[in-house]
Amino acid sequence: MINIALDGPAGSGKSTVAKILSNKLDILYLDTGAMYRACGLKCKNLGVSVKDEVAVSSFIDGIDLKIEYKNGTQITILDGVDVSTDIRKPEVSMLASDVSALKCVRLKMVDMQRKIASSMDCVLDGRDIGSFVLPNAKFKYFVTADSKVRAERRYKELVERGTPVDFDELHKEILQRDYNDSHRDFAPLKQADDAIVVDTSTMSVDEVVNYILSDVNRRK
Ligand code: DC
Repeated sequence: MINIALDGPAGSGKSTVAKILSNKLDILYLDTGAMYRACGLKCKNLGVSVKDEVAVSSFIDGIDLKIEYKNGTQITILDGVDVSTDIRKPEVSMLASDVSALKCVRLKMVDMQRKIASSMDCVLDGRDIGSFVLPNAKFKYFVTADSKVRAERRYKELVERGTPVDFDELHKEILQRDYNDSHRDFAPLKQADDAIVVDTSTMSVDEVVNYILSDVNRRK
């Protein structure tokens, strides 16, 4: 079984790299952030605070969340509805970051992720894949970049999608999420001791993909 763990902060480029890598290796790509985003959206739909652990724990075990694949692309389905586009909205990013700090949410999502990873070869991107979800994964990379570079990438992505945002706001939001994601008590954003660090600040997507791909091919 090949499991490739790609962890790192928001906007580091890991999802872009994960998609291309999975394509080249012809294995699945599991975007674990999408799962936390769907949990954040569920709270919003229910009118429940993402910080209210008691309220969230009352529904999280029974959450109707499915990950499917259409032409190799992940589709996130919440309560029978395709929410793949809605979960990308900036307001959902903060909800996801906050709700992902709750232990009950992480335990449920991690359980789902481990089941998927044990049944097929895949590339997983997230914050805690190498350090917590799959500590025994053979291939672990910690993909990072300067926060301004990460904000610029997200800015371009959102503008291309027709969701214009204020750059400074976006940068602030990224710094806030970095802080949130790495300071939560349970399974924070963390570089696994045996992960290879890839600083993508001055690297092109192709360079990052080729770097990881050659390492995987050399060791697999
Ligand atoms: O990768 P992303 O921006 O789509 O992730 C959204 C949020 O989900 C992020 O702020 C932190 C959380 N997350 C997490 O805690 N653990 C993961 N494995 C993936 C995402």
